[in-house]
Amino acid sequence: MNKKSVMEIIFYDGQKDYNRKNLEALKIDLNKEIKRLKKEKNAVILAHYYQRPEIQEIADYVGDSLGLSEKAAETDADIIVFAGVHFMAETAKILNPDKKVVLPDLDAGCSLADSCPPSDFGKFVEAHPDHIVITYINCSAEIKAMTDIVCTSSNALKIVESIPEDQPIIFAPDRNLGKYIIQKTGRDMLLWDGSCIVHEAFCIDKLLDLYQKHPSAIIIAHPESEEHILKTARYIGSTSGMINYVKEHSQEEFIVATEAGILHKIKQEAPNAKLIPAPAKEDNSCACSECAYMKVNTLQKLYSCLLHESPQIDVPLPIRKKALIPIQRMLDLSK
Ligand code: 13P
Ligand code: SF4
Repeated sequence: MNKKSVMEIIFYDGQKDYNRKNLEALKIDLNKEIKRLKKEKNAVILAHYYQRPEIQEIADYVGDSLGLSEKAAETDADIIVFAGVHFMAETAKILNPDKKVVLPDLDAGCSLADSCPPSDFGKFVEAHPDHIVITYINCSAEIKAMTDIVCTSSNALKIVESIPEDQPIIFAPDRNLGKYIIQKTGRDMLLWDGSCIVHEAFCIDKLLDLYQKHPSAIIIAHPESEEHILKTARYIGSTSGMINYVKEHSQEEFIVATEAGILHKIKQEAPNAKLIPAPAKEDNSCACSECAYMKVNTLQKLYSCLLHESPQIDVPLPIRKKALIPIQRMLDLSK
């Protein structure tokens, strides 16, 4: 079957997953086709550590939010396929207005970004005109456009510490990361009351029970987790920080408090480490916490979005111009 007829047969309506049965019937080797299209179209695939293993495997780069922004800023590809969530693809578009940025599924949102609506946040900022605004990258382009400096979990401490001590700060949208930074720096920041449903799903009682059964395990946690979870952790850091920590202690046993997708990379980087996912509150079937937004992206959808160059991410020019400034400040401060 030639490529044209394959394209004609595949059902695609722009946003929905396309017909898996067609693909199976056609016996398309998705990995082979993605690699072929990538070369043909000069595309790059950037993937977050929470993506499905098969997506991480085909990506040109897998990283945390900071690494992904840095890669997006330096790529010379014509098309960026962003295997992550919407705010990440938006950041890539803001950094690359002339490139096509596609996301496998537009429903790949983020509960944390959603917890900070632009109109409410605008009023909050206006009510505190003397405050500098630092926002965690997990927010919409509109929020970034109201921001002075963006940060990620990799550089949040460094960025807050770069602000003069007498300068009041608004930190948004993640209250857990905000509280963690306040505790580490002693800064009195004004916090937006947002959070991530995935990191707030960890259950402290189940975690302590698990720890009693594995007393030599090291608890590692992402700072989007609640304070009581962070208090139990020996290491707190971004996804790449957590991976590096396990690599440095690769013979140990770990209880991992972040989204379960990270386990794929940790197993590759530290095959001897014993990994136990931190238990979630509502989950009695599997002891892991999965981000439904990250997981809406599939290999089929990734193929489809590369093939059709859709759905594309676009950010209106006035927002893009304003949002670029705090993102660029973050990248400069992170060098
Ligand atoms: P990092 O990978 O930057 O640590 O962020 C985690 C996260 O929740 C991404 O949405
Ligand atoms: Fe957003 Fe939480 Fe999913 Fe990260 S894990 S994308 S913060 S909902």
